[in-house]
Amino acid sequence: MKILDSGGSALDAVEAGVMVIEADEKNTSVGIGGAPDRDGRVTLDACIMAPDGSCGSVCALEHIAHPISVARRVMEKTPHVILVGDGALEFALSQGFKKENLLTEESKKAWEEWKKTSKYEPVINVEMHDTIGMITIDKNGDIAGACTTSGLAYKMQGRVGDSPIIGAGMYVDNEVGGAAATGLGEAVIRAVGSFLVVELMRNGRSPQAACEEAVARVVKKYKDYKNIQVGFIAVNKDGETGGFSIHKGFSYAVFSNGKNEVKEGTYLIE
Ligand code: GLY
Repeated sequence: MKILDSGGSALDAVEAGVMVIEADEKNTSVGIGGAPDRDGRVTLDACIMAPDGSCGSVCALEHIAHPISVARRVMEKTPHVILVGDGALEFALSQGFKKENLLTEESKKAWEEWKKTSKYEPVINVEMHDTIGMITIDKNGDIAGACTTSGLAYKMQGRVGDSPIIGAGMYVDNEVGGAAATGLGEAVIRAVGSFLVVELMRNGRSPQAACEEAVARVVKKYKDYKNIQVGFIAVNKDGETGGFSIHKGFSYAVFSNGKNEVKEGTYLIE
């Protein structure tokens, strides 16, 4: 908001905004301190989208604390949209990013505890969200979006979720609005959730109605939906917002006209 208030761009603001959470070691689902995969490797996914429709993404990126900034470099400095794994790391290092250990003592302990049973099950509402998605609108009315995560805790090596997939984890259309998803990526991808929300808004739905319809679509395509969480946030060109999830407990923040509010998203199942 400091960037937006001083006339900065939606793109700069959205990158800086999600970097705050990426740097928070206490958050176990994004950036440093994110839960590792089954082999103890912290692999990060992120994507970013600019008002002109350009976008960048990294998948399964290790050792770099701010995957969102690498995604932005992919967008701005390469002819590509997505870089994965070792290629993404090599590119990040060539751009001057520093290699770091992202596995904190707490995350390591939790992983070692998990290994005793190695039971894999997605947890609903990990810290309310397993991902951070953010949409910003600047003083010119231009819209940008970002999404960043360490993905599912104890996932298989190489697993990629919805968050770095443009249209699934996040999507922006500067004429319409933007949306982002949290929850089980496998379910969000099936519905191309964030793109769906934006298209529904294009066709006249309010952000709230669009999020509700996208959750309905996810549920229809995922038999076991009662045991997973998926939520969407959306904002349209007029600054109206919405949020809806399968389960209770999904909240989101709206900062507008100098007021920062945490809103309880509405939901399908109590
Ligand atoms: N939504 C985060 C993931 O499934 O990886």
